[in-house]
Amino acid sequence: MCGIVGYIGRQQAYPILIKGLHRLEYRGYDSAGVALLNGAGQLNVYKAKGKVSELEAFAEEKDLSGTVGIAHTRWATHGEPNVKNAHPHCSMSEQLAMIHNGIIENYESLRRMLLNEGFRFRSDTDTEVLVQLIEYVYNKEQTDLPTAVRTALRQVSGAYAIAVIDRRNPDMVVAARKGSPLVVGVGDGELFLASDATPIVEYTPNIVYIGDEQMVILERGKQPKVQMLDGKEVQYEVKHLSLSIDQLEKGGFDHFMLKEIFEQPATLRAALQGGEEGRGGTSLVERMLPDFVRHKERFLNAQRIIITACGTSWHAGLIAKYALEEFARIPCEVDYSSEFRYRQPVVSEHDVVIAISQSGETADTLAAIELAKQQGALICSVCNVHGSSIPRLSDGCFYTHAGPEIGVASTKAFTSQVIVLTMLALAVGREKGVLLEERFASLTEELQRLPQKVETVLQQDDTIRAFASTYTFAHDAIYLGRGYNFPVALEGALKLKEISYIHSEGYPAGEMKHGPIALVSPEMPVVVIATQGATYDKVVSNILEIKARKGRIISIVTEGDRQVRDVSEFSVEVPATDECLSPIINVVPLQLLSYHVAVSKGCDVDQPRNLAKSVTVE
Ligand code: AGP
Repeated sequence: MCGIVGYIGRQQAYPILIKGLHRLEYRGYDSAGVALLNGAGQLNVYKAKGKVSELEAFAEEKDLSGTVGIAHTRWATHGEPNVKNAHPHCSMSEQLAMIHNGIIENYESLRRMLLNEGFRFRSDTDTEVLVQLIEYVYNKEQTDLPTAVRTALRQVSGAYAIAVIDRRNPDMVVAARKGSPLVVGVGDGELFLASDATPIVEYTPNIVYIGDEQMVILERGKQPKVQMLDGKEVQYEVKHLSLSIDQLEKGGFDHFMLKEIFEQPATLRAALQGGEEGRGGTSLVERMLPDFVRHKERFLNAQRIIITACGTSWHAGLIAKYALEEFARIPCEVDYSSEFRYRQPVVSEHDVVIAISQSGETADTLAAIELAKQQGALICSVCNVHGSSIPRLSDGCFYTHAGPEIGVASTKAFTSQVIVLTMLALAVGREKGVLLEERFASLTEELQRLPQKVETVLQQDDTIRAFASTYTFAHDAIYLGRGYNFPVALEGALKLKEISYIHSEGYPAGEMKHGPIALVSPEMPVVVIATQGATYDKVVSNILEIKARKGRIISIVTEGDRQVRDVSEFSVEVPATDECLSPIINVVPLQLLSYHVAVSKGCDVDQPRNLAKSVTVE
């Protein structure tokens, strides 16, 4: 996913822009660039393939002066990753420079029209078509930059967050968004813009979230002006964000991912607290789920709950399904968002749709709830980013309060999603009268012990790291679990797959005999979640079947379990808890295992190849 940053104000723009790009590196990218307007009316554009550090090396001896500029990290959609296709893109006259996050779907027809009007193109990108279109309108209508941008965007279909600067007007940056995120920072005599708040908050806590199909004009020395694309002024709220710098730094860890794994006791406590906003709540439900209280009737009368999500969030949804059906006795379906949005689902006003998304910007999940909303369902989201697109489209949102998750591989957000969803299932079940008060009380008391129990698991990091280094030979791996821990097996496999590039699959342990057992060999580790639960004996049988075929067992077991530990090559003992709560504990050793294997293999853990932190394009 691309990242955009912009600045206009009293300071030199370049250092702020470059630092902002570093803050956005976690989004995944393959090239970067910056455009600066210096005091002499020159537009200087520098671009490089690869990392931001390569852009810095390229620009080192260049003219980096100027107090207004835009910068970009590109995750290639149209056109391969190279300097030619890197942003910013300039108009043919080289008066305008533009950066873009998203996809212009009708760029080919626009490109043909512009070619007929005499325009020539230097790149293979859809972005260059848009900046040329803006110039075409600018010249044809003899108008100003905001009007040209507005007029051009009305001819565009697709998703965008753009920022444009004009060599003839060094006192203005024009930005706009549709389907891709855009936030503005309001400082003292300076204005910032970015894809999210992380490049901004060290300069100002005052953030404006730009709404869909809105444009913002940043003029030197003035307050931002927000308009709809028809030019109508929009009132906006300046939010005060309390993100601290250390939340953005690695805090002494080698990678953001490891920092975020170790943050989980704190982030689980934050979820239980309901974040800053929850401090006033008198009960756990009021603190964690204020929007459940608001939409209680719709939940209690729901004929079905549909969960839609992608990736790790989809795994959290699977766990929620088990909890909602066990405790709330409501039929629950879990759909990949990319499937849900295209399969003509049958949805009605009797349904509650829950969208789970760490970033709140995943395009498929956004489209899925737009579809469900049209069919009358109540839309609630479980999200980690305040003010992001999915909560803004939802009727209610259960925030996870995990703080910025920078590592591409989701960890703390996942366990926070699961604890919030589990609390929701318990709350609905109690309100419906199908979950007895004493069971509700014992489970919610155990929920509040989980942070401490996760801390116990984290103390085994050294032994997990030592074992992981022996695991790097593997080209394939299988993860097995049953019940609530089947989704944990899927999640453990995804973690290993996405950061170590080892092909790994998760299966229900009961499925082994239906195919996967054919794969068992000494070369393929089998990770089994075998903590105490209703199907423990079945899992033990699966383990013994694998052992009988010379399989290598790595197991997650309940403290004191010797039976499984003695047949495992490596075993992690975790504190006992209720089976329905065990995913939050059991996933932690799997997160650590995948992290240490990836580090042993020399992989780029925080920015794995080909991946983005949030997939804001289809
Ligand atoms: C998880 O480690 C991956 N980074 C990815 O599967 C992610 O969970 C997925 O893209 C969904 O993102 P979201 O939660 O921000 O919607």
